[in-house]
Amino acid sequence: MPRSRLALAQRTLRTMTNGLRSSRLGDSTVGAKLIGYRGFVGGRWDVMGERQYRLLLDHGLQPYDVLMDVGCGSLRAGRLFIPYLEPGHYIGVDKHRDLINRGLKHEVAPGVAAEKRPRFVITDRFEIPREPPLATFALAQSLFSHLNDDDAKRCLAAVRAAVDPGCRFLVTFMESARPVANQRSHSHRGMFFTSDEMREMGIDNGWSYEYVGPWNHPGGQRLVIYTAMAHVHRGRHVVRGAEQGANTERS
Ligand SMILES: C[S@@+](CC[C@H](N)C(=O)[O-])C[C@H]1O[C@@H](n2cnc3c(N)ncnc32)[C@H](O)[C@@H]1O
Repeated sequence: MPRSRLALAQRTLRTMTNGLRSSRLGDSTVGAKLIGYRGFVGGRWDVMGERQYRLLLDHGLQPYDVLMDVGCGSLRAGRLFIPYLEPGHYIGVDKHRDLINRGLKHEVAPGVAAEKRPRFVITDRFEIPREPPLATFALAQSLFSHLNDDDAKRCLAAVRAAVDPGCRFLVTFMESARPVANQRSHSHRGMFFTSDEMREMGIDNGWSYEYVGPWNHPGGQRLVIYTAMAHVHRGRHVVRGAEQGANTERS
């Protein structure tokens, strides 16, 4: 094919794929199939998998830790965490079962999956059971960059309810200088938060907050580290012993 026609065909395909990604269909199981399990989570397969793996190891993740990978997608990083962690110590959470299945099928050796027995939760509302062994680390890489405020808060509350105090939750996000009116959550549309919003949402849902900032993300996402506190501060209320259930006091 002449070079100019090839270039035109490539441009047309790119435009069609981008249109599909940002459509409702693009965030569905059918969309995940059409876009492909690697492209759906953003491509840059090797680089982004290894950076997440390195990030967690640099923050002290050990094989005996339990990692909850929230919005794990097609296991871009999970394929490295699963062999590293002890059996049953990787928990992947995602709304697209198909992405997880394809990651397991194509990216994790069958013997490794059988030996390491990763656990998975399929949910689009972060309905995460509190099942031991509980996570000692949690990660949300390129998840908050696709969640609106309500879903980001729901995620923080749900992960907090599923872990004990001390669990660290590493969250990447797209930072804006001023608050943005984020619309409907969508796996391929960008959502932005200020650092103050990230702090407030965390503290309201039982996390202490540390802003790390740039962490070598190729798209410039920032990193924050939440640590699960014993008490959940909601507005002027302190909820004690969140794990044991409601017992509310004024602060
Ligand atoms: C950009 S991908 C990142 C995947 C993975 N963290 C990585 O870095 O490879 C975002 C993932 O979050 C998932 N996701 C988005 N909204 C979600 C929700 N409300 N509940 C569960 N998963 C969600 C998507 O299905 C997708 O797999």
